[in-house]
Amino acid sequence: MHDDFTTIAWTPQGTIRLIDQTRLPLEEVYLECGTVDEVAHAIRTLQVRGAPAIGIAAAMGLALGARTIRETDHAAFCAALEQVGDQLIRTRPTAVNLAWAIRRMLGVARQSRELPVADLKARLTAEAEAMREEDIRINRAIGGHGQALVPNPARILTHCNAGGLATAGYGTAIGVIRAAAEAGKRIKIWVDETRPLLQGARLTAWELTKAGIPATLITDNMAGHFMQRGEVDLVVVGADRIARNGDAANKIGTYSVAVLARAHGIPFYVAAPISTLDLSLSSGKEIPIEERAQTEVTEIGGRRLAPVGMRAANPAFDVTPASYLDAIITERGIARAPYDESLPRLSGEA
Ligand code: MRU
Repeated sequence: MHDDFTTIAWTPQGTIRLIDQTRLPLEEVYLECGTVDEVAHAIRTLQVRGAPAIGIAAAMGLALGARTIRETDHAAFCAALEQVGDQLIRTRPTAVNLAWAIRRMLGVARQSRELPVADLKARLTAEAEAMREEDIRINRAIGGHGQALVPNPARILTHCNAGGLATAGYGTAIGVIRAAAEAGKRIKIWVDETRPLLQGARLTAWELTKAGIPATLITDNMAGHFMQRGEVDLVVVGADRIARNGDAANKIGTYSVAVLARAHGIPFYVAAPISTLDLSLSSGKEIPIEERAQTEVTEIGGRRLAPVGMRAANPAFDVTPASYLDAIITERGIARAPYDESLPRLSGEA
């Protein structure tokens, strides 16, 4: 089963083509980014969003930026490239894939001392493309491992969008769902709408409909009701950053779903690539949480809901403590508690 859309890709002209996620599901519009500023803007405004997708976008953005650097000396070129990387890393703080992708690209640049700078620029474009293609393979592997945890039949609840749109394709949590469907399992998905920006209602609903996977949209506050009635068999969500102890940051509202799942004895799984692990953080308390504009809460789709002057809080992510997770599904296999042993082992650190 292939996605029938392309989240992000190089154009033949060497620019970046992105599906504009702020316009979905009403319009399927693609935009073209030819400069680092345009890529940074697309990430900041969520035209491209989801941890792996913003990592790939940043890598491609860095390759774009590299082409405009005039320095021909290798060290001076790398110094200029680091500045471009800093600009891209500053766009969004929570998903660690962004910094991971920039680090990998800068590593390639630093190690390619023997290449003339002109060739190094082409090498960086190729590296970003390799990361994009690799991400799809990774998600298929996550799907393969994760679908083994899905009973047949199954009613699966997911929060936010961890699908093809949030990655280079196929998805992480939705990758598990796609793989279960491909394995012939009879599945039905509960889609949390995911206020404030409605990634569930707009994006997950769009993807699942396109894929022909039966799905029902619910508002976030309905999850407990359906769990209490025995209508949810498991929960699978993505992640933006996972600390060494397994604490996982994901879209705001994920923690509430995890607590509800535990209260009802429902398995709760996080599906994420190894690049989402941040083993330098001992716990989720150290994960920076992005605070976004108050208008995302006081308005919906640009239409004001709350009284003028009303303050609103808008943390974009929350942290689910590892004790609420039944497993973390990665491309290298399934990690279980104690995560401070299983995650370093899977990441190849140990
Ligand atoms: O603010 P967003 O839309 O970028 O948040 C996205 C999420 O929280 C996803 O669940 C997460 O990045 C995992 S995507 C495979």
